[in-house]
Amino acid sequence: MRNAWKVAAIFMVAGLGFAGSVQAADDPITTRQDIMASVGAAAGLGGGMMKGEIDYSPVAGKAAIAAMNAAAVSFGSFFPAGSDQGDTGALPAIWENADGFAAELAKFSAATGKAMEAAGKAGPADLDAFKAAMGPVFGTCKSCHETYRKKN
Ligand code: HEC
Repeated sequence: MRNAWKVAAIFMVAGLGFAGSVQAADDPITTRQDIMASVGAAAGLGGGMMKGEIDYSPVAGKAAIAAMNAAAVSFGSFFPAGSDQGDTGALPAIWENADGFAAELAKFSAATGKAMEAAGKAGPADLDAFKAAMGPVFGTCKSCHETYRKKN
């Protein structure tokens, strides 16, 4: 339990940083990268609990899902024309195939929206409930990255 609370606390602090930077930054590349970094942090927390490396708690489960959902609904707003240029991992396919990218975004937010519903107010009651809610969200990362994100 102690472990999970500690991680949740760190994670929530990271989440606050993310909310602040979205308001402050007018650089869409930095903003969308900060949003995806919060997705990465939520995935680390969620994946850690799924693998049993971090003790599960409903509050931590809810925090991971809520961060994913906030990211899914905001991420698509930070791809204005011209922001394919610069220090970005975004591929030109995002602008060349805007409908395809929108479809990946829609899959992502549909999955996180369902996970939010399943989580309820208090968060998924146990690890199995968390896996059932979060699994489909994890399923959306790869197909978008494959087509729309540069390989490192
Ligand atoms: C709709 C498409 C899409 C989905 C879904 C998506 N990503 Fe991303 N992701 C991107 C794009 C595009 C970038 C590159 C952004 C840039 O550099 O401008 C990115 C970048 C990242 C980064 C690097 C952030 C940084 O600091 O630069 C991480 C980490 C990441 N994604 C994790 C995830 C995880 C985990 C999931 C699934 C839970 C996920 N992403 C789902 C499109 C997506």
